[in-house]
Amino acid sequence: MKIIGTGSAMPSMSVTNDMLSQFLDTSDDWITTRTGIKQRRIITNETLKDLAVTASQKALDNAGIAATDLDFILCSNVINNYVTPALSCIIQGGIDATCPCIDLNGACSGFIYALDIASAYLETGRAENVLIVCAEQPTRLVNWSERNTCVLFGDGAAAVVVSKGDNLKSLLLTTQCKVDALYYQRKMEFNPYVRQSDGDMPLVMNGKDVFKLAVSSSISDIKTVLAKAELDENDISYFLLHQANMRILDSIKDYFKQTEEKFPHNIEKYGNTSSASIPILLDEMNGNNQLHKGDYLLLSAFGAGFTSGACIIQW
Ligand code: UT7
Repeated sequence: MKIIGTGSAMPSMSVTNDMLSQFLDTSDDWITTRTGIKQRRIITNETLKDLAVTASQKALDNAGIAATDLDFILCSNVINNYVTPALSCIIQGGIDATCPCIDLNGACSGFIYALDIASAYLETGRAENVLIVCAEQPTRLVNWSERNTCVLFGDGAAAVVVSKGDNLKSLLLTTQCKVDALYYQRKMEFNPYVRQSDGDMPLVMNGKDVFKLAVSSSISDIKTVLAKAELDENDISYFLLHQANMRILDSIKDYFKQTEEKFPHNIEKYGNTSSASIPILLDEMNGNNQLHKGDYLLLSAFGAGFTSGACIIQW
């Protein structure tokens, strides 16, 4: 597998920490020191579909292929207006593609899970070109009167086109059932035969547990993918980590004794955009010509489930 194109699209509205402190008992100082986030983008006038379609079109343009050249579309998404059809089906119509489509929900690790599925399709010859779109709107999962969760998230979409190649050096996925650490239950429709009450509450998160799980699983995943690829941390040009909290990134950077330059971040601008965070960062770096042929990129993500995943891709 190799990545042949990237694209991203962000909502136009930017909300600063000071704007949040106008209606929440919080402050720019608390949010900045505890998370590194200064602002986040929030979908208001546009829709998640608009962002996903724009990001996908940009990735196709960057790859230099047409939507009709796609053999499969995988969309990583946690929440959108439609439970069915899948968001990927809606994106297909937006870019005029004709291939099969499916969504997956690997929470914040969804991009790595999608890369794994795409690489299996490419390896078995069932696809030549796969579009992976990560389109996320976590700002509609949280309770906007709960300061411990709503300040963390932002919306956004990013896409990559992957094709046949030898650039995926290793990949690892892990899942451990830990629902209580981070979950969201939706309200189901009334059914006259069902008496038990449904969960109907915004995102619940035990921040400290998630923090510890994130750091420990990311460190362990990184060690495993390095060993599988017969590389060490100093061979890696950039570590692209899920942008959940700057302190999580710093803990992992310090563990591997790496420099700040090797841990690029944009959490300060966008907050936690769930599975879209790594491909947004990747597209930003690609657009800024920061990535050079031959660079080893180590991607590592973690999220609800508890899911985690990491991989090494040569650019
Ligand atoms: O994609 C994966 C999803 N989630 C994550 O990766 C999140 C991982 N966890 C974290 O990033 C951190 O645990 C948080 C940023 C969520 C919280 O940081 P913390 O250092 O673990 O803070 P805490 O929850 O222990 O809260 C410390 C204090 C509490 O007050 P008291 O009890 O000490 O008086 C909180 O009520 O900070 C208070 N607090 C806030 N204060 C101002 C919590 N949220 C806020 C806030 N503004 N927004």
